[in-house]
Amino acid sequence: MWKEVQTFWQATFASFDSVGAIAPSSQALAQAITQQVSQKKGRVRVLEVGAGTGVFTRKLIEILAVEDHLDICELHPPFIQYLQELTTTSPAFINFKGTFRLLPMPVQNISGAAQYDYIVSGLPLNAFEPQLVEDILTHLLKLLKPNGWISYFEYIGVRRLKMVLSFGKDEQRIHGVNHIVTHFIRRYEMYHIPVWHNLPPAYARHCQKRILRRRKI
Ligand SMILES: C[S@@+](CC[C@H](N)C(=O)[O-])C[C@H]1O[C@@H](n2cnc3c(N)ncnc32)[C@H](O)[C@@H]1O
Repeated sequence: MWKEVQTFWQATFASFDSVGAIAPSSQALAQAITQQVSQKKGRVRVLEVGAGTGVFTRKLIEILAVEDHLDICELHPPFIQYLQELTTTSPAFINFKGTFRLLPMPVQNISGAAQYDYIVSGLPLNAFEPQLVEDILTHLLKLLKPNGWISYFEYIGVRRLKMVLSFGKDEQRIHGVNHIVTHFIRRYEMYHIPVWHNLPPAYARHCQKRILRRRKI
């Protein structure tokens, strides 16, 4: 537990812009964000993005079965090392009967298309530049199969608060991010779950890559 918090804080201080959080997510958030995966039917391929110290990873391997596959993507070397240790030493991973890979790279570098049924993301979109948010969301949609799900979280009220409190370049940045994220939510979100037992409280957002059928005239 202490090692987890220490790894998290080291990464946060070294690079707040890409970690975007002060503490690992809670069990309650892990439960809410994996809700859609837990309703899986049959064999599935899952991508976890921005795994950090593996709070969501641990929940995912509880849910996934022998026929399933999990890719775990993380960018920061201290987190990658932490995840490497987790996957080789934790009894839950040793007993996990499905297959998994650790992908030590930015999510934008994962190649291929329509290969995942579910994407669970811990990425701090509200801390990124608008262009990066646009690129990442477009890439995640490309990686997802038709009718697949993207589940991600954002801290409640933080985007709106930042829009009111920030100024100059950061004000421009957060307005740009808000524009893209609002459009994404309107287009794809099916439901969200407020999670109060998290620091800070968060929404787990569940979005589906619905394929809209054209009406016959
Ligand atoms: C808010 S933390 C979430 C960590 C963990 N999922 C949790 O909820 O405790 C965001 C994570 O995303 C990772 N990250 C940021 N940009 C990334 C990128 N482009 N590709 C993959 N991971 C990224 C960071 O290194 C960090 O581990």
